[in-house]
Amino acid sequence: MTRRWLVTGCSSGLGSALAAAVARAGDDVVATTRRPGQLAPLVKEFPGRITEAVLDVTDAERCRAVVEFAAGRLGGIDVLVNNAGRGLFGAVEEVSDEELRAQLELLVVAPWRLTREVLPLMRAQGGGHVVNVSSLAGRMAFPGLAAYCAGKYALEGMSQALAAEAAAFGVRVTVLEPGGFATGYGASVVPAAASVPVYAPVVEPMMAGLRGMDGNPGLGRPEDFAALVLRVVAAGPVPLRLPVGADAFGYLGALHDAAALELAAAREFTHGLAVAGAESLPGARTGTESAGSPVQPA
Ligand SMILES: NC(=O)c1ccc[n+]([C@@H]2O[C@H](COP(=O)([O-])OP(=O)(O)OC[C@H]3O[C@@H](n4cnc5c(N)ncnc54)[C@H](OP(=O)(O)O)[C@@H]3O)[C@@H](O)[C@H]2O)c1
Repeated sequence: MTRRWLVTGCSSGLGSALAAAVARAGDDVVATTRRPGQLAPLVKEFPGRITEAVLDVTDAERCRAVVEFAAGRLGGIDVLVNNAGRGLFGAVEEVSDEELRAQLELLVVAPWRLTREVLPLMRAQGGGHVVNVSSLAGRMAFPGLAAYCAGKYALEGMSQALAAEAAAFGVRVTVLEPGGFATGYGASVVPAAASVPVYAPVVEPMMAGLRGMDGNPGLGRPEDFAALVLRVVAAGPVPLRLPVGADAFGYLGALHDAAALELAAAREFTHGLAVAGAESLPGARTGTESAGSPVQPA
């Protein structure tokens, strides 16, 4: 079965590798880029399979036009991959309202908008697949990446709600959570305009790690990411949220353990409060007394 794909952010990195893999697999793809002609080598390599469309995903009118163009060109859209993205780097105190809004526009509003545009098509077709490229940072937060994390967390929340809403119409939703992949992502991260130097010791090590991603042989390869996306789309049911890359599983395993500890500590703490409150009620019984709470004293 030949699938019809619309993939955003194909000028480099994961999107570029995915567009090539889709075409190599014999599927058809409208691949978007912000710069006209940027995808000419890919189009030449896979004639007829890859069509370039110019799209800045923060441009609502262009989003609508590109979805319409892709549906017309391909005869429908089976798979939408919301891949375009870029990080804003800065401590919470350094990020302005405008910078935060721009980050959320790119990471949340734009994929939401594109999803909204394709859903009527997919419902009319009797199905489709929305693949949202989140991040490990959509599940855990990193210093200096608060705005980026906020965007990816929001994308994950939207995706989970969408999955429940759209399943009845045969629309599948997958959230991909890459760990570290060797792309231009790190180099393209934009620093916040304001600088509050006291945060440097906390955020600078993170920035240094991001800067060297492109040529880091220890990170995942975009081709492997692309191969996984093809598998996900061809497979039957897969988990809604899919970590991608060995490091992602490592981080999320540790996160899972930390979350269990946090929940236990929260339960202890909350029961403590309940006990304190209940004690003031005449004749109340709680039975929740416990010793050795892991909650640190304030
Ligand atoms: N690499 C990783 O380790 C990693 C990890 C977790 C998540 N991710 C996510 O993976 C996705 C792809 O990133 P990547 O690693 O492939 O980085 P990349 O090589 O920098 O690619 C990002 C792509 O997004 C495009 N883009 C940025 N802003 C855009 C806009 N306003 N409208 C349209 N396109 C826009 C870029 O186009 P231009 O060339 O025009 O800027 C580029 O094609 C992103 O969503 C990123 O958050 C990456």
